[in-house]
Amino acid sequence: MALRTLVSSGKTLGRFSRFQQQIRGLQTFTLPDLAYDYGALEPVISGEIMQLHHQKHHQTYITNYNKALEQLDDAIAKGDASTAVKLQSAIKFNGGGHVNHSIFWKNLAPTSEGGGEAPHGSLGWAIDQHFGSMEKLIAKMNAEGAAVQGSGWVWLAVDKELKRLVVETTANQDPLVTKGATLVPLLGIDVWEHAYYLQYKNVRPDYLKNIWKVINWKYASQVYEKECP
Ligand SMILES: [Fe+2]
Repeated sequence: MALRTLVSSGKTLGRFSRFQQQIRGLQTFTLPDLAYDYGALEPVISGEIMQLHHQKHHQTYITNYNKALEQLDDAIAKGDASTAVKLQSAIKFNGGGHVNHSIFWKNLAPTSEGGGEAPHGSLGWAIDQHFGSMEKLIAKMNAEGAAVQGSGWVWLAVDKELKRLVVETTANQDPLVTKGATLVPLLGIDVWEHAYYLQYKNVRPDYLKNIWKVINWKYASQVYEKECP
C-alpha cells in the first residue's frame, strides 16, 4: 500500500506521524521579498541586475524546485523508486538555488543601512583571530571566489561543532551543507555570471572587489552570535 494511501486512510501508526505531516502539507516555496529596493545597492550592483536576479533567476529556481517536489511526491505515492532517484539532481540544483539566493539577499544591504560596515563584537574578533584581519579575509574570499570554475558560490561559514570560521566554495547551486553538515553560512557570495555580467562585463574580480561595499555584516554577526554565543 502506498504511503499516501496509508496517510489518507488515517491508519498510520505513531512512527509515521512526522512523515504524514510532511506528505499532507507538501510545502511549496515562494519568492521572498527583499528588505530593500532593487536600486538601493547602486552603484555597486545595478537595479537592473537585482531585479533580473531576484524576479527571473531566483523565481526560476523556486518554480522548478516546487515542480520537482510535486513529481517526487507523485513518485513516492506510486512506489516509483527510479523516478524518485532521478529527481534528486533537480531537487539539489533548484532547491540549492532557492536556499542560496535566500541567504544572498540577506547578505546585502544599502550603504545607508549599514552595508559595508565591518562587524563589531564577536564576529569581528573571530575574523581577526582566524584570518589575521578583515582585509585578509576579503582577499582570501575574493581569490577563492575568482577561482571557482564555471558557476558557484564562495562562503564564509562557521563550523558550529568546532566553533571556528571557514571559507568554502561550492559549485553550481550546491548549498553549503554539501561541504559539511556542521557548516552554517554567515555570508555567501554568488559568483554566477548572472550576478554581475550586465554591469561588470563578466569581470568577476571587479564584482568581488566592489561587493564588500554592500555586505550586510550585521546579519552575518547575528547568525554567528546565535551559533557561537
Ligand atoms: Fe544567482
